[in-house]
Amino acid sequence: MRKLSIDQVDLKGKRVFIRVDFNVPLKNGVVTDDTRITAALPTIRHAVAAGAKVIVASHLGRPKAGGDPESSLRQVLPVFEKALGQKVAFAADCIGPVAEAAVAALQDGDVLLLENVRFHKEEEKNDEGFAKKLAALADVYVNDAFGAAHRAHGSTEGIARYVQPAVSGFLLKDEIDYFNKAVNDPARPLAVIVGGAKVSSKLTVLKHLVERADIMIIGGAMAFTFNKALGRDIGPNLCEDDQLENVMNVMAAARKKGVKFYLPVDFLVADAVDSKSARDVVTAQDLPSDGIAPDVGPATIALFKLALKKAKTIVWNGPMGIFENPAFALGTVAMAHALADSGAVTVVGGGDSVAAVNQAGLAEKMSHISTGGGAFLELLEGKTLPGLAALTDA
Ligand code: 3PG
Repeated sequence: MRKLSIDQVDLKGKRVFIRVDFNVPLKNGVVTDDTRITAALPTIRHAVAAGAKVIVASHLGRPKAGGDPESSLRQVLPVFEKALGQKVAFAADCIGPVAEAAVAALQDGDVLLLENVRFHKEEEKNDEGFAKKLAALADVYVNDAFGAAHRAHGSTEGIARYVQPAVSGFLLKDEIDYFNKAVNDPARPLAVIVGGAKVSSKLTVLKHLVERADIMIIGGAMAFTFNKALGRDIGPNLCEDDQLENVMNVMAAARKKGVKFYLPVDFLVADAVDSKSARDVVTAQDLPSDGIAPDVGPATIALFKLALKKAKTIVWNGPMGIFENPAFALGTVAMAHALADSGAVTVVGGGDSVAAVNQAGLAEKMSHISTGGGAFLELLEGKTLPGLAALTDA
């Protein structure tokens, strides 16, 4: 990554503004998954150890302007303090007199958490005045919010114009470096597994990856659109008719490039998405008109596993079926196991595939699990992340 990173700048005695992605899931005000908090700790600890006055900022949820208690970062404070192992001050506003006073009270090595930046509507508008107010709090800007780096917002992009140096944190750097190594400079063969419900939301990903991968595996409901394009009857399963030409183009590109291209060859059949179990297994050519296919079948699992056997790098985004229902999680969990047993460099990104890996207890076996959802997807699409582009060149 050709951007300046936090270990390349002097932080001693400086006010260091670290944008993190503490957009964590909450239930009744309690954090239910602290992955994103622990992932930001190396950067925060580095700044503390270097003697910086550390200001931590994040968004949480998609609150109404003006803010609401359900999106307050105050709820995250106890988990953050515990994980960091140090007292953290809190400012009830991320700009203005409240924030300025809280920053002025910091000693070297102290940490302050600011209230949700999205409590100001100017954050998402990337308003210049708002970005300048954030910038006024800091001598050094650090972006460690990989999960929000695809947003050109005040605290992820705008601020970097007014604080120099603007550098990457360790998490952002690691995520980008891992991604580039896996997709742009991979140990080959490179296998990509793309799943999920809608082809339309992954079309750019498919177009980008088909130019880079050696093996491409398609799962999830989007496979039906491919199967329909191949002239198969897909019954009442989800199909995006306006994407038929696009998926044909993806398959043509795969053929032209010599990419080995795999679609599910069999499916489980059930009455409904919330059925307790499957009622049948059928080939992709035999989908019935009176039932849905919520997961791939055993032949597909075997086929996909074989296809992955020679891969030296595997990138996975998107589930194979409706895995939220345990009865239809088999295909997705099998992919998690296939990656875990592969011996390849494995990179997993996107909420559902990451959840499946965690559910299967296989997180430790993956080379890299991305903390980004939308940000990871935009990398897969070949896009430049504004939060990264805004940083000072190395
Ligand atoms: C995420 O959870 O993907 C990031 O925190 C970004 O959140 P957003 O989609 O609300 O911008």
